Amino acid sequence: MTRFLRLLLLKSTALLAFAAFATLAAGDAYATRPEPEGFLLHCSGCHRADGRGIPGIAPDLRKIGPLLQTAAGRAYLGRVPGVAQAPVGDEELARLLNWVLSEIAGTPPDPLYTAREVKALRADPLRDPVAARRALPTPKP
Ligand code: HEC
Repeated sequence: MTRFLRLLLLKSTALLAFAAFATLAAGDAYATRPEPEGFLLHCSGCHRADGRGIPGIAPDLRKIGPLLQTAAGRAYLGRVPGVAQAPVGDEELARLLNWVLSEIAGTPPDPLYTAREVKALRADPLRDPVAARRALPTPKP
């Protein structure tokens, strides 16, 4: 394992420990956070704080807007593991995904994702996200 990956793993572990503690402290199954905070806690470890990603590790979220142009692309965004398996409830995940698309990618979904839509998508997570991405008509930027 490279030094960088070890560091990333350590950072993620610390974040997860913090998230678990914060969740327990809140006495709720999932603590609800404002979107920018949720993004920092659950997504930025891989996608960086500004969403630009890490080449070869996690894609650039600033470029995901075109995926909304097809139903398959829209579904992919809710089924990709980092999204589907985020340790937040459906309502918070819908808000987080809408926030990422609006604020980081600059393309608010129309209509916005709802808790109901996200619940159905994350219940059907992608087994092979790389193949699923390649099969989409929108090429990877
Ligand atoms: C452990 C690292 C990791 C975390 C944490 C993570 N992701 Fe990801 N994300 C990835 C990787 C790797 C991919 C590429 C697809 C794959 O292999 O899963 C990806 C793909 C994506 C995509 C599709 C982008 C594309 O162009 O195909 C979106 C959208 C996304 N992530 C959003 C999020 C959001 C929102 C969060 C936080 C709730 C998050 N991710 C958390 C690693 C992560």
